[in-house]
Amino acid sequence: MVKKQQAPEIKVAADNAALNLMAVEEFCRCAKAAIAAHNRFCVALSGGNTPRAVYSLLATKKDALPWDKIYIFFGDERHVPPEHSDSNYRMANESLLSRVPLPMKNIYRVHAELDAKVAAQEYEDQLREFYQLQDIRLQNNDWPQFDLILLGLGDDGHTASLFPGSLALTENTRIVVANWVKKFNEYRITLTFPVLNQAAQVMFLVSGESKAQILKDVLNLDSANPYPAQRVQPVNGRLLWLLDQPAARLL
Ligand code: 6PG
Repeated sequence: MVKKQQAPEIKVAADNAALNLMAVEEFCRCAKAAIAAHNRFCVALSGGNTPRAVYSLLATKKDALPWDKIYIFFGDERHVPPEHSDSNYRMANESLLSRVPLPMKNIYRVHAELDAKVAAQEYEDQLREFYQLQDIRLQNNDWPQFDLILLGLGDDGHTASLFPGSLALTENTRIVVANWVKKFNEYRITLTFPVLNQAAQVMFLVSGESKAQILKDVLNLDSANPYPAQRVQPVNGRLLWLLDQPAARLL
């Protein structure tokens, strides 16, 4: 039984362009608040198509943020090299990372050119070192806390690379796993729910008519068979859904 979830915060923009602007404004607000609070902003970027325009618009605001205090991670990555057209890193690098004065050392790329399980373990080790976490095998449930995690919504209700029916959905001790995705017959490397739910803020970006039905289903908090995206319930953080009108059509 899914525990009764608190109603998420939903903001609807008139169209995709307005959504991109709203997302950039929220990103900058989050970044400035985090830097004011603890002198750095740690953000996990989402992949897929929706965020590309957000990242491109953000790159035009490059003078608005102290990029040397911003640390870039990825919520998930496809099991491909960084130059592959499917690479989330490549998309983010082309649209944002290569266009702002970010020190290379501040960008934590998933080395998805490696064996998927090796890449996942290496990314987990990097996160453990960055956040100075103890060894999870001590069961101390020390989780990395991102200031912001950007997420998208797939038309099957997946988010990051947490797909319906995949093993990663029940992972509760690892920070990063290699998740076999049957529908694609490939591995993905993904942050796990405990990490997503430790974030200070999670921001879903959902755009377009094609997402209207799945969005309605996912935001139906009473559904007995929860979609993966419904299991993003920040323990203490803010959950914000940024939508455009076409995606929000059925709400
Ligand atoms: C990925 C993303 C994935 C994405 C959704 C929505 O690696 O593709 O992490 O979760 O956010 O599939 O993708 P679109 O934005 O392309 O609709």
